[in-house]
Amino acid sequence: MRALIVIVVLNISLITAYNEYSNNVTTADLKELRKLLFVSRDYDRFARPIPKNDIFRVSIDYNLIHITNFDIRSQILTAEGWLFSSWHDGSLAWDTTALRHIPNIRIPSTQLYLPDLMSYNSVDYGSPRIINTNAIVYRNGNVLWVPPMTLKAMCRVNLKRWPYDEHICFIKFGSWTHDGYIMDVFPMNRTNPGLLNDIWKNTEFDISYINVTRDVKFYDCCKEPYPSISFFFRVQRRPSLYHYIISMPAF
Ligand SMILES: *[C@@H]1O[C@H](CO)[C@@H](O)[C@H](O)[C@H]1NC(C)=O
Ligand SMILES: *[C@@H]1O[C@H](CO)[C@@H](O)[C@H](O)[C@H]1NC(C)=O
Ligand SMILES: *[C@@H]1O[C@H](CO)[C@@H](O)[C@H](O)[C@H]1NC(C)=O
Repeated sequence: MRALIVIVVLNISLITAYNEYSNNVTTADLKELRKLLFVSRDYDRFARPIPKNDIFRVSIDYNLIHITNFDIRSQILTAEGWLFSSWHDGSLAWDTTALRHIPNIRIPSTQLYLPDLMSYNSVDYGSPRIINTNAIVYRNGNVLWVPPMTLKAMCRVNLKRWPYDEHICFIKFGSWTHDGYIMDVFPMNRTNPGLLNDIWKNTEFDISYINVTRDVKFYDCCKEPYPSISFFFRVQRRPSLYHYIISMPAF
């Protein structure tokens, strides 16, 4: 648990280098701010934020934390990770008010409008299981929400070089109900996208990040674009385990 907390803090600090801490914020200020947002402005978490004549843009990143299981036969990777998501919600900004000395506030994600991101290639619609953690809302209306997420993804399994086999797995995200004219998705600007430096080691497989790809699909039926973001990972078997098992009887 401790490791998990450390990684979350590290990761978040990467994208929030502009994070500011203010030690003159009081509980009364926070109450005042919550009252401004949720009472005076009557924030409606079901109303999609629409920038002036523009598209609702969501930046995302997926960080794999731990491979729970990699089943070669069914070609399914089960993993734990964090879905980083960030967007702008103008009705949450307070930088032009008397409370602007408050740099940011934590708000339960269940109180906010959340983009309906789904993993398209999940093979189990009971997963991804998204947990409703707090979101961080910044005074300019930017929101950062990083729910931990379990998912099952399909992989291209290639056993030709067993036990040095490596496989390509990918996780694809997009809006479940909106086309690209309404909501668009982009890779999050981070120094270590898809990152893994603190990944929990799996005894059998190593995993490394390949790339993030933005894809826009058009279908015959319709003229609107359907954008998605895929994170590609390479899963490699650790041959040392097999050397050990195979060579042991010789001793
Ligand atoms: C809080 O601190 C910031 C920066 O130190 C300062 O600009 C602001 O005026 C202070 N606000 C209040 C209400 O004291
Ligand atoms: C991310 O980086 C790209 C290229 O450097 C830039 O065009 C884009 O505006 C950036 N997006 C955000 C949200 O900062
Ligand atoms: C990302 O990697 C995958 C798998 O190797 C590849 O098919 C895809 O073309 C790559 N995308 C980009 C943008 O490099």
